[in-house]
Amino acid sequence: MGTGSLAPGVRAGGGNTGWLWMSSCNLGLPVLSISFLIWLLLAAPGAQAAGYKTCPTTKPGMLNVHLLPHTHDDVGWLKTVDQYYYGMDPHLLTFMPIVMSDVQHASVQYILDSVIYSLLNDPTRRFIYVEMAFFSRWWKQQTNVTQDAVRNLVRQGRLEFVNGGWVMNDEAATHYGAIVDQMTLGLRFLQDTFGSDGLPRVAWHIDPFGHSREQASLFAQMGFDGFFLGRIDYQDKFNRKRKLKMEELWRASASLKPPAADLFTGVLPNNYNPPKDLCWDVLCTDPPVVDDPTSPEFNANKLVDYFLNLASSQKKYYRTNHTVMTMGSDFQYENANMWFKNMDKLIRLVNEQQQANGSKVHVLYSTPSCYLWELNKANLTWTVKEDDFFPYADGPHMFWTGYFSSRPALKRYERLSYNFLQVCNQLEALVGPEAKVGPYGSGDSAPLNEAMAVLQHHDAVTGTARQNVVNDYAKQLAAGWGPCEVLVSNALARLSLYKQNFSFCREINISICPASQTSEHFRVIIYNPVGRKVDLMVRLPVSEGIFLVKDPNDRRISSNVVMVPSAYSKTYQWELLFPASVPALGFSIYSVNKMSGHNHQAHNLTARPKKSKSRVLVIENKYIRATFDSDTGLLRKIENLEQNISLPVRQGFFWYNASAGDEESPQASGAYIFRPSHRKPLPVSHWAQVTLVKRHPGSNPSICV
Ligand SMILES: *[C@@H]1O[C@H](CO)[C@@H](O)[C@H](O)[C@H]1NC(C)=O
Ligand SMILES: *[C@@H]1O[C@H](CO)[C@@H](O)[C@H](O)[C@H]1NC(C)=O
Ligand SMILES: *[C@@H]1O[C@H](CO)[C@@H](O)[C@H](O)[C@H]1NC(C)=O
Ligand SMILES: *[C@@H]1O[C@H](CO)[C@@H](O)[C@H](O)[C@H]1NC(C)=O
Ligand SMILES: *[C@@H]1O[C@H](CO)[C@@H](O)[C@H](O)[C@H]1NC(C)=O
Ligand SMILES: *[C@@H]1O[C@H](CO)[C@@H](O)[C@H](O)[C@H]1NC(C)=O
Ligand SMILES: *[C@@H]1O[C@H](CO)[C@@H](O)[C@H](O)[C@H]1NC(C)=O
Ligand SMILES: *[C@@H]1O[C@H](CO)[C@@H](O)[C@H](O)[C@H]1NC(C)=O
Ligand SMILES: [Zn+2]
Repeated sequence: MGTGSLAPGVRAGGGNTGWLWMSSCNLGLPVLSISFLIWLLLAAPGAQAAGYKTCPTTKPGMLNVHLLPHTHDDVGWLKTVDQYYYGMDPHLLTFMPIVMSDVQHASVQYILDSVIYSLLNDPTRRFIYVEMAFFSRWWKQQTNVTQDAVRNLVRQGRLEFVNGGWVMNDEAATHYGAIVDQMTLGLRFLQDTFGSDGLPRVAWHIDPFGHSREQASLFAQMGFDGFFLGRIDYQDKFNRKRKLKMEELWRASASLKPPAADLFTGVLPNNYNPPKDLCWDVLCTDPPVVDDPTSPEFNANKLVDYFLNLASSQKKYYRTNHTVMTMGSDFQYENANMWFKNMDKLIRLVNEQQQANGSKVHVLYSTPSCYLWELNKANLTWTVKEDDFFPYADGPHMFWTGYFSSRPALKRYERLSYNFLQVCNQLEALVGPEAKVGPYGSGDSAPLNEAMAVLQHHDAVTGTARQNVVNDYAKQLAAGWGPCEVLVSNALARLSLYKQNFSFCREINISICPASQTSEHFRVIIYNPVGRKVDLMVRLPVSEGIFLVKDPNDRRISSNVVMVPSAYSKTYQWELLFPASVPALGFSIYSVNKMSGHNHQAHNLTARPKKSKSRVLVIENKYIRATFDSDTGLLRKIENLEQNISLPVRQGFFWYNASAGDEESPQASGAYIFRPSHRKPLPVSHWAQVTLVKRHPGSNPSICV
């Protein structure tokens, strides 16, 4: 860790784990770190842009408590995105593993209306907003007068955007490319709407169920100055509090040269909720602040004492004279006045104690980036973290690993849609406007791009939303595919100079593709959106027959028709297989012609337990031989024929039964939490039906199980 390898502004600290995270003025390189932004501010003192200089003043020598008014608005969960935006009637029961007593009324449009009104009423009040899926929609529905007022609030730092993606994405079930895309969509909206005033400086992942090192690396590379987290493992948190490691420098990449992937990261004190007894939302039941001493309900003194104790006990776990309180929670601030009115009073009462009785606690409206700015000014050396925050457990037997595999069909559909979106984007970029308007009509990549962004939300691709919401997510994806298919058709028509009708095999996942199953002559266009050549075996459902397949150079290539068991009935169906090769970021066109009505392959051998010992199932080519147990149908041995190596194999299929809660803990397994009822998994079956399909004896067989 030599200082020579460090970029300006970040210098090696004392010990070998310490890093100095600070500002410096002699910056040469545009390092996307806090120091770069400070330099910008120093360089342009007259600029009007919102930035750290709009932060509220704090009191040196005192404990400054930064109140962070915020709302957490899930882009779909118990209700659909549109139901949350408009505030539809929920008819809901909650099913989170944490206690949530309220049935969510939850209307984001009213939240934003109400917050803006409250902010305009008092220049000291501040608020942060996160999810652009909601904000952009609200923004489009506002009058010019409101939009101008909001622009002013943003410029003055009174309304601050944090994170700024379309959604607050999950970190476990997502693909990094889709994370980049969804952040791009949200940040581009902010850039287009507010310019540099709207630039979020901190990343804010207060609800995702565990945190990956890669996410922090992406955020660092996107230029964020800091990152705040809500959920970390309860034992980890316990230790971090004792060791004053709630805030550290996350060195988020093992391969990128520091500080490229370094990001200051703070764990919030109370996930993202307000302190106990200080929740003043319409959804909460805590008493309001009564500061009229003549009222029989007067509670100001008690409240101030409570607050001062709370602040100093929380401070024990953090290293500076600054601490934060997250004032808000899920879909709060629909009546923002309730929150702000009580916080106004709290701030006045607590700060009056400084004058009256010499208290050393100062409380103020703030934002995560203004808190971060104070930490930066404290000029400390922070410890370094290199691993991730997975898995997340919020108590014993409560590991949030169930969502890694919940709703696998939605997860697959999301990945498939990611792939298709890349195809759509690439062809749009390649062909230009003619992809959008062409022989097949108007194409558009935006609907699929937005649907994919929504799917990255931490209740979407995770599989933790309710069924009706999941249906809505799938519907949004399906609706996005249509305009992309038109775009791709237009683009391919232009590029390949074919004017024929294109059809997309959307149901190839269940071996249905009407075009290939009914036509005798067709072409197959295979597009490769990745940056390297891909060789693949194409499998297409066809009608029975013999097919002649030609490659892009019009050369005949080997192909095979096999019978595969249908996934949906007891019958078999025909599938055409041929090897294809597609260049990087390109496509290949293969032509298929049916030659005759019959083929004579289908030479079936079937293994069933205890029926026929004489048949040992073996498949082999010149390199490898696989032997299946004739009793169980399970793979028993693999031999490398070239090197004469034999590997015994034990194959089995097992499942974990879900716990319904037991004497150790009432925690049940579910969409979020994986909790098996027993340590040992149960066998799915002791045998498998294996069908060996050979084209004709002696040639390379294919096996279908
Ligand atoms: C932090 O606050 C305490 C009083 O709460 C004060 O004594 C101390 O000097 C302050 N430290 C700094 C670095 O401002
Ligand atoms: C609002 O502003 C837009 C663009 O600045 C302008 O085209 C439009 O006429 C304005 N609408 C009203 C009602 O003033
Ligand atoms: C200051 O402290 C005294 C004694 O603890 C108390 O009587 C008085 O009410 C306090 N003043 C305020 C403004 O809280
Ligand atoms: C920060 O601390 C270092 C010592 O660790 C000191 O040399 C430097 O002057 C300090 N910077 C500021 C702005 O206080
Ligand atoms: C493509 O084929 C479908 C039916 O398979 C038909 O509805 C559509 O009009 C055709 N489009 C073009 C551009 O030929
Ligand atoms: C097959 O994929 C389509 C989307 O192309 C999806 O709607 C359908 O549910 C999938 N079928 C199954 C059985 O997973
Ligand atoms: C392959 O290895 C086996 C035992 O490991 C040996 O008996 C046999 O002779 C070897 N065959 C060849 C061709 O080397
Ligand atoms: C699986 O667990 C459920 C609930 O705990 C139980 O009712 C069921 O009998 C179990 N099944 C097996 C095969 O053990
Ligand atoms: Zn959430």
